[in-house]
Amino acid sequence: MTLSFHLNGERVDLSGVSPTMTLLDWLRIDRGLTGTKEGCNEGDCGACTVMVTGEDGPRALNACILFLPQLQGRAVTTVEGLAPPEGGLHPVQQAMVDHHGSQCGFCTPGFTVSMATAQLTGETDHDLTLAGNLCRCTGYAPIIRAAEAAAQAPAPAHLPKSFQMPVEGEGLAFQPENADALAEWYEAHPEATLVAGATDLGLHVTKAMRNLGQVAFLNRCADLKGIEVSETEIRIGAMATWSELLPRIAPHHPGLAAMLRRFASVQVRNAATVGGNIANGSPIGDGPPALIALGATLHLRKGATRRSLPLEDFFLDYGKQDRAPGEFVEAVSIPRQADRLACYKLSKRFDQDISAVCGCFSITVEDGMVTGARIAFGGMAGVPKRAAHVEAALIGQPWEMATIEAAVPAWAKDFTPMSDMRASADYRLKAARNMLPRYLLADLGQDVDLLEVEA
Ligand SMILES: Cc1cc2nc3c(=O)[nH]c(=O)nc-3n(C[C@H](O)[C@H](O)[C@H](O)COP(=O)(O)OP(=O)(O)OC[C@H]3O[C@@H](n4cnc5c(N)ncnc54)[C@H](O)[C@@H]3O)c2cc1C
Ligand code: FES
Ligand code: FES
Repeated sequence: MTLSFHLNGERVDLSGVSPTMTLLDWLRIDRGLTGTKEGCNEGDCGACTVMVTGEDGPRALNACILFLPQLQGRAVTTVEGLAPPEGGLHPVQQAMVDHHGSQCGFCTPGFTVSMATAQLTGETDHDLTLAGNLCRCTGYAPIIRAAEAAAQAPAPAHLPKSFQMPVEGEGLAFQPENADALAEWYEAHPEATLVAGATDLGLHVTKAMRNLGQVAFLNRCADLKGIEVSETEIRIGAMATWSELLPRIAPHHPGLAAMLRRFASVQVRNAATVGGNIANGSPIGDGPPALIALGATLHLRKGATRRSLPLEDFFLDYGKQDRAPGEFVEAVSIPRQADRLACYKLSKRFDQDISAVCGCFSITVEDGMVTGARIAFGGMAGVPKRAAHVEAALIGQPWEMATIEAAVPAWAKDFTPMSDMRASADYRLKAARNMLPRYLLADLGQDVDLLEVEA
């Protein structure tokens, strides 16, 4: 079984390597390419950022939580491959020198690769593209100035804007080409671990030192990646990444797009899939509460048998989902029509942080009366959960502050949150309750967004 990809312009064929070896370990230990740094080893700091180019263009990814088989048929550029082969520096490297963008230098390779990827794709929102890169000494202003300067220069010709190489054979592990092949294999190997973007599973290996056992990689299942927009619904394939979804969903569900802007970082969103975020059953995932508030339907498949259920019914209890052995998430669909969704994500940092509480509200109002309410939360229970009692207390009532105040007792019936390192139970309940007046005030035209409110 062979894995084939390009590394800094040269073909690599690998066999006999563990399928759960991370690209970072392989680069540093096996190839001696130590320019790519190991900071956190859990996707948080961006020191290990590499550029991975496929048919869909170049993407910045965290090498520390990227397993080797995810590179099959793609081109990897590390910091060592940025400078043109004929000599000199990449425009981003030159700009980092000119604008004093580096002090100790530990974060610099990661920043430089993120910036070079943005330069190649023409992305100029540097706050966005660098949100997943942490610098502890230089300060961000010189780095942003360097990114702005580099954006003016032409991208070097040696970096591929798109890449595809024919790949034969299976790679280092089972890596099906489509959902049919996956369904047949997984039904016969229900104990196996499915790897999607590995932004959760990567940590099981790098932090929990777990052996994932038999693994199957879903990244080559093209038919699980599609995002189809019909007259009535939007069907999102399980393997669609959050980065792929964000621009496609923005015209239809801007509230979801605004929340996704704060989901992890560019590097994580480029790998993390919608299906993985649902299947992992995390009580603090951001995707499920937003999708539940939109009225999502989950599509599961086992062998040739398919079934669909409301997304909220998938989450049975902490760590327990309604998914049979050998059954996998094929897609999730949401209504296409305009919504009234607003998502409020509370976390200690604006970017790149897991939610303490994530409240998602979609309340319909006709002639001043509440006619429908879908309210769902992450961080408030052992599962992503709807606020059924609060919804019931609102429906049929006037859409005004008095109704919200009258609904206050309903919150304690819906949620008994826990205290942990992110927030106390008391804070969680109060913060969740306070989101409803915020939603009303926003509806009345007041600025409630922390980026808009002025003192
Ligand atoms: C630094 C960092 C920041 C993060 N920030 C956020 C955040 O802000 N909000 C948030 O919600 N999450 C966040 N996460 C968590 C993670 O990125 C998401 O949950 C992500 O969507 C998981 O998708 P994945 O494709 O990487 O899943 P994987 O890690 O590949 O898989 C996760 C689980 O789902 C299973 N699985 C995957 N696909 C399927 C399928 N199709 N069918 C059945 N089972 C499947 C796997 O077997 C595994 O058990 C963060 C993670 C990191 C490392
Ligand atoms: S080492 Fe920190 S993101 Fe990879
Ligand atoms: S230059 Fe030291 S961490 Fe960024």
